[in-house]
This record gives sequence, C-alpha cells and structure tokens, in this order.
Amino acid sequence: MHNVLIIDDEPVQAGILGEILAHEGFDVTTHTQPEQALALAQRQSFDLVICDLKMPGMDGVQLLQQLRKIHPDLTVIIMTAYGTIETAVNAMRHGAFDYVTKPFSKEELLITVQRAMKHLELRRENVYLREELGLRAAAATLIGRSDSMQRIYRVIAKVAQDDKATVLIQGETGTGKELVARLIHQMSPRRDEPFIAVNCAAIPEGTMESEFFGHEKGAFTGATSAKAGRFELADRGTLFLDEVAELNAEIQGKLLRVLQTREFERLGGTRTHRVDVRIIAATNKPLHDEVRAGRFREDLFYRLNIVPITLPPLRERREDIPLLADFFLTKFHSEGKRRVTLSPDAVDLLTQYDYPGNVRELENLLERAVILSDGSVITPHELHIHPVDAQPTEPESAAPTPPLPHGSLSEISRQAVEEAEKQAILDALRSTAWNRVKAAKMLHIDYKTLRLKIRRYGLLPHRESTP
Ligand SMILES: Nc1ncnc2c1ncn2[C@@H]1O[C@H](COP(=O)(O)OP(=O)(O)OP(=O)(O)O)[C@@H](O)[C@H]1O
Ligand SMILES: [Mg+2]
Repeated sequence: MHNVLIIDDEPVQAGILGEILAHEGFDVTTHTQPEQALALAQRQSFDLVICDLKMPGMDGVQLLQQLRKIHPDLTVIIMTAYGTIETAVNAMRHGAFDYVTKPFSKEELLITVQRAMKHLELRRENVYLREELGLRAAAATLIGRSDSMQRIYRVIAKVAQDDKATVLIQGETGTGKELVARLIHQMSPRRDEPFIAVNCAAIPEGTMESEFFGHEKGAFTGATSAKAGRFELADRGTLFLDEVAELNAEIQGKLLRVLQTREFERLGGTRTHRVDVRIIAATNKPLHDEVRAGRFREDLFYRLNIVPITLPPLRERREDIPLLADFFLTKFHSEGKRRVTLSPDAVDLLTQYDYPGNVRELENLLERAVILSDGSVITPHELHIHPVDAQPTEPESAAPTPPLPHGSLSEISRQAVEEAEKQAILDALRSTAWNRVKAAKMLHIDYKTLRLKIRRYGLLPHRESTP
C-alpha cells in the first residue's frame, strides 16, 4: 500500500482529498500546518506528498525545498489556486513532480496521482536495474588493453565528469556502444538518477513524438490518459538514444529544437516542460555518411557529435580477444556454468576470426562452446567457427562447419541448449523485475517470441523459489 501525506491549511479541503485517496487505497495522513508536516516527514517516509502552494507560515515551494532536502527522491504534487504557468513551473523547477490547478475534479487529481505512482514505480525499477548493472560494472565491465580502448577509457572518464556534454557513440554492431553509454552514466554525477534508453528503431512510426515527449489526455484517438514521454522520465538523468540514425525527418527536427532549448510540450498540450537531461546517442551506421546521403540533418548531427566516441571493431584490436575470452569464461562460470579453459589452438583460432558481430558474437560463440563441449578444455573444433579469412589450424572437412549447429545436435545437446536458453530468459526476467518488454530487448529477441518461450518453459514469477 502506498502512503500519502496531504498538506493543506484548509481543513475541509484536506479532508476531502484524504477521503478520495483513502478510497483509492492510499494510507493517508493529513496536516494543516506545514511545520508539523515537515517534522513528521523527518521521522517517516512517504511515497507521495500533495501540498498546497499558498499557506500561512511557509509556502509550498519552501516546504518542497525542505522536504526534498530530507528525501531527495520524494514525489510531490503541488496544488495551486493561481494556475499561472510561472508559479507551477517554479515548483517544478524545485523538484515537484507535477501540479494541479484549483479547483480540480476528482478525475484530474487521480490522473495526476496515478502518473506520479507510475513514475515512482519506474524509478524504483530503475534503481533495481542499476544495482544489477552496478554489480556487472564492478566486474570491470569494459575489457580491453589495446591502445584504441585505452584512449576510449580516458574519454569516458573525462566525459562522465562533465555531466551535461552530449556524447555520440559510433561503432559496428556488438562493439559495446550500449555498455559504454551505461558506463558513462554510472560514472557520472547523475548515477542516482534514471538512465532511460530509447531504441529509435523499435518505436512504431506514428508514436514517435508521443514516445519522446509524452501526450495529454485526448491528444489523439486512444489517448485515454496523459502520459509522460522519455524526456520527462529521464529528467535529471541520462537519455540514451540508441540507433539514432533511424529517426525520421520530422522527429529529427523536433529533437533538434529540444536539444537547443531543453524545452518541449507534450503532444496535445500547451504547458512547456523543461528538463535537465544528458543525451547519449548511438548508431552503427556512420552518421556522417547518413548526413551526406541526405538522410540525417546536418545541424542535428553537429548537436549530437559534441563528444564523439568511436568503438573499433574487434578485428582491429585482436590483442583484446584472449582477454575478452577469459572474461566471458569467468563470467559464465560465475553464473553457474562449468569451468572451462581454451586450448592454445583454440585461442589462436579465436584471435584469427573476423567477428562480423564483434564482442557480442565472441560472447555468444563462447557460451555455446561451453554448453556443448565435453571436457574442461575447449578445442578449436568445439568453437564451431569457420573463419573465412583465417587459416584453420586444423584441416577441416570439405563441408564448412555451420555457425549454428542446431540441426546436428544430439538430443542431449539440444536439452543443454534449451536449459541454457531457459536460464538466460530467467536471468533477464529477474534482472528486469519481470518486465517482459525490457527482458526481450535485453535478450535481443522480440516480445512475442519471449512470450512463447515463457509459456513453453512454464516460467512464472511465483515459481522463482524452484528454478
Ligand atoms: N569491451 C567489452 N568488454 C566486455 N564486454 C563487452 C565489451 N564490449 C561489448 N561487450 C559485451 O558485448 C555485448 C554487446 O555489447 P552492446 O550491446 O553494448 O553492443 P552495441 O554496440 O550496443 O551493439 P548493437 O549495435 O548491436 O546494439 C554485451 O553483452 C556487452 O556486455
Ligand atoms: Mg546496442
């Protein structure tokens, strides 16, 4: 049950509000004296505070400032009788989540409260995810000793400290762009604020604007309630625009404006929202080529390309391959898989292969090898790679080894693969608090496929205790 603190110097008004929210299932505390409410907030924590802007003794903004000193994450809704943009915006600047203008209807109030609770949930989910990732980050996330990676570490360390600078991360698929984006956020002063990722390629065309900037109730057919966009959710944190080259011309224009002013309106809304976000964009299409081809706005490119980071493909830093291989084998072992090592020949083969899928491909093929290998030492044959440009270290048969040997697997191996798949799905679900959309993204499979697999493996949150 969520608890709410209502502060209004009008006892009748406070009482009505209290009743409405108690009816909605909130645990309600009301106060008519701001000073007393503040003293209470010092002893007890609240999920939500709703307070009047104009009160004798201490006004709402002062109270808000005091409250947020005690609980920096506190979600506060302000009630204002004035309805001018200035007072409300001033409250928002001081960290209010939202405001309602008196007189308001019960419905208006509830919509705002529901959104605030949704925001709180997302924030908590995000904290949970961040802890998960933090653990992984502690395991020295970004592996690489090559000169090119050393240079990148230095840029990351510097740009993390400047928490406003926009970063553009470029590199082929699987080179670690998202990893770098998360690392920058974690190393920055914004680390306790949200990291919101948007995959620009995955947003359906017609919903882009609403996804980014949110919408008001009734902004379009089907907009039955107001919704905050990604920019609002990322306020004070980092917004990661993944696959940014995929944005259409219209959104490119809107984005440019927001990058210049950090201000926007929700779809169908008139209120101007101001946000403090750091933007990190990523793309595996060289963005300057997209500009030259007329598909990406040049002015937007320059806005994004303030601090460029280009991740080299794995084949251009082969000295990192044995290091990464070691890292992944240790990681798999820590996740409960068998402890295996690579034979010297296998290391040679790995080092010669070209990896069109870069680090992700290396990780995947090692995981497969660990599952399918029989002994504790992986031989070149068990890697199931067929390097086109590299000389195979063993004479291979005429037929090339297929990269994904599912068809030829024995029943036992098939079971092993399924077991691994089930485990990977379970891990993803757990680390996203059973958010299937996020888990699917994490696993690089689509939502439908994930749903099918969840059903097939009979995975349920309450079966957690017997995995
Ligand atoms: N230097 C590295 N050290 C350790 N792990 C890495 C490194 N680079 C990438 N990885 C791992 O490889 C996988 C792919 O990385 P990531 O998702 O960041 O790639 P990407 O560049 O965003 O790929 P795409 O363009 O396909 O989205 C992840 O599991 C990531 O943890
Ligand atoms: Mg990515």
